[in-house]
Amino acid sequence: MPLKSNSMKWFATEPSRGNFTFADGDVIVELAKKNGQLIRGHNCVWHSQLAPWVEAGHFDNATLRSIVETHCHTLVKHYKGDIWDVVNEPFNDDGTFRETVFYNTIGPSYIPLALRTARSADPRAKLYINDYNIEGLGAKSTAMLNLVQQLKRGRVPIDGIGVQGHLVVGEVPTTIQANLQAFADLGVEVAITELDIRMDLPVTNAKLAQQKVDYQTVISACKAVKGCIGVTIWDWTDKYSWVPGVFPGQGAPLPWDENLVKKPAYDGIVDAW
Ligand code: XIL
Repeated sequence: MPLKSNSMKWFATEPSRGNFTFADGDVIVELAKKNGQLIRGHNCVWHSQLAPWVEAGHFDNATLRSIVETHCHTLVKHYKGDIWDVVNEPFNDDGTFRETVFYNTIGPSYIPLALRTARSADPRAKLYINDYNIEGLGAKSTAMLNLVQQLKRGRVPIDGIGVQGHLVVGEVPTTIQANLQAFADLGVEVAITELDIRMDLPVTNAKLAQQKVDYQTVISACKAVKGCIGVTIWDWTDKYSWVPGVFPGQGAPLPWDENLVKKPAYDGIVDAW
């Protein structure tokens, strides 16, 4: 069976209320376990790739809270991931909360609700909040910092901040190490969770060389910060990357090219590790 990278998302796992489908995700978990790899569950609560029955916004606060509880509990219990992206992309780029069906119906307390539910489903899993455009210092990173600080003060279970790392060649934020350090200083883990570094097409040797430097910069920043526990890339070959489908005119963001041949970016990763 082919691996389907979106198979733990809401639309795939609870396509109608109370009906859970785990088969596609199980294939990935089994393969990882066989090879001694860690599993990062992705994800419990996210506004995108949500099931239409939730997205439609037909539920009141109490009902949606119970729907979130059932979803997170069932998911985290079934997959027993080592790590979970419990909440994905809660912020707008200006640091305000994103107005999703969860935020609009429940308010910001959907976040502690999801985290507490995940903890009760699997006390051993590391629980993360994950977002993009929080690689460098800035309004969105500050919002993440404040949220995690507040959760910790309220004794809400939170183990880590996931920094997605969907970056652009030549534009890696210069403050990336300082920012990862600021997150780690909160006393949580930090991980780069979805690294890819895209370029304007066509590919040239100069862009590939810059991409190598950029991968090195990101890996080195994580290595230099004690609480930064690892880096995950978002797919591995350009052949299957989501980038060309979502960012018109851009692509080639990964360490292996469309023919599965290693690019300079691969050596950049190895050099920096
Ligand atoms: C992407 C997938 O790679 C695509 O196949 C899908 O069409 C859209 O979502 N941030 C995330 C990921 O947390 O789940 C997204 O994955 C990429 C951005």
